[in-house]
Amino acid sequence: MPADIHIDGPTHDLIRRLSGGAERLTFPMARSVPFDPPAEYAALRSHCPVAPANLHGRDAWLITTYDDVREAMLSDALSADSSRPDYPLSPSGKANAALAGSGLPSFLRMDPPVHDDLRRLVTRDFMVKRVEAMRPRIQQVVDDLIDDMLAGPRPADLFEAIASPMPNTVISWLLGIPQSDHAFFQDRTTYLFRRNVSDEERSVKLGELNDYIYDLVDSRDADPDLDPEADIVSRLVHEELRTGRLDRRAVQGIVFILLVAGHETTGNMTALGTLALLQHPDQYKALGEDPSLAPLAVEELLRYLTILNEPNWRVAKEDTVIGGRRIKAGEAVMPLTFSANRDEGHYDNPDTLDIRRGARDHLAFGYGIHQCLGQPLARVELQIVYSTLARRIPTLRLAVPLEDVPFKTDVDIYGVHALPVTW
Ligand code: HEM
Repeated sequence: MPADIHIDGPTHDLIRRLSGGAERLTFPMARSVPFDPPAEYAALRSHCPVAPANLHGRDAWLITTYDDVREAMLSDALSADSSRPDYPLSPSGKANAALAGSGLPSFLRMDPPVHDDLRRLVTRDFMVKRVEAMRPRIQQVVDDLIDDMLAGPRPADLFEAIASPMPNTVISWLLGIPQSDHAFFQDRTTYLFRRNVSDEERSVKLGELNDYIYDLVDSRDADPDLDPEADIVSRLVHEELRTGRLDRRAVQGIVFILLVAGHETTGNMTALGTLALLQHPDQYKALGEDPSLAPLAVEELLRYLTILNEPNWRVAKEDTVIGGRRIKAGEAVMPLTFSANRDEGHYDNPDTLDIRRGARDHLAFGYGIHQCLGQPLARVELQIVYSTLARRIPTLRLAVPLEDVPFKTDVDIYGVHALPVTW
């Protein structure tokens, strides 16, 4: 959700010069299409790494260096709990929450101990061993999608043909959602992250998604022959809901976060990462010739692209110090992971894509207790899709000039609306 923000004091003057005289900056700041962070981030890192800002009339801080972002994301003094009265929801965020009414509780926006208790219920489903066992099945999905694309007309939209259906299919297996519902939840979840839709429109879509999840949980609960091992929803209903350990809304909330967190992110990363590789043909070729480069390539692409530019806002529960700056209780804090991932103090030539770099310490999955639960799954999906494309379609190339690619500058998770390719 766009939150209007402007930079105060000396930093404002600095930023004003950098941004060609703009009197007021909005936050999120515009990325430098196609692959780079907003130009202001580098200036803030070197001149004012913990930058005072104004968020809807209240004090806020932008955190920009690698070390400070990690410090903020580890800090017990900062809360991610969006139910706190002082949580920095934008006015449109508040309006939207009120309109949607039935917004489900999500552990992404909770603090310990409840966060930890809920997250633990699904940790096992995303452990490396469990996810590695899915590799052959995911490989088959990717191969089938590539076969279909190759059999169809050229140019093709790689986003529609491969990037979007691949993670949808995988999360649907895990949750036990029929293939026929993909289009429905793909449409609804995309609205959650769009910036330029009205509160009413987003609220309607969110309400429909919530209804879908209520029905999913209710239908499992109504099934007398429920197999708890069939999928995550069935297990949660059997072990948590029916035993009374969790109420219905808590179960629905877990299903909601798993459904929305996994496919929009992985789909965008698939398409944007492929585009970045196509813009670096030597690296695309190297990956096709040596699939053992895939794990390194995935980490570097995650770092370089950081599609989830801003994680959730945090709010200071008490007075604290981050990056040497005093932050008062009630002030909002934004750890800018994209800025951290391009910090020249941490990475050599951070603005260069180098799939051999070995950047596994990047912060594209966040850091600390909210660090992405699904990262082992995302890693395997991305390793398979990039390396299979590079091996099977070495002649893959963009079918339009780069400037004609429709980048998602209007969505909180960056990517492309479509990726026209040919071969
Ligand atoms: C390339 C793909 C992905 C990226 C870039 C990504 C990024 C992130 C980030 C940055 C966070 C932390 C947000 C914060 O601290 O405010 C996060 C949390 C989370 N992600 Fe992912 N994610 C990806 C894929 C997935 C997948 C496949 C799933 C599986 C369902 C998933 C499930 C989650 C969940 C449940 C959380 C909340 C964790 C918590 O609060 O404890 N993500 N993700």
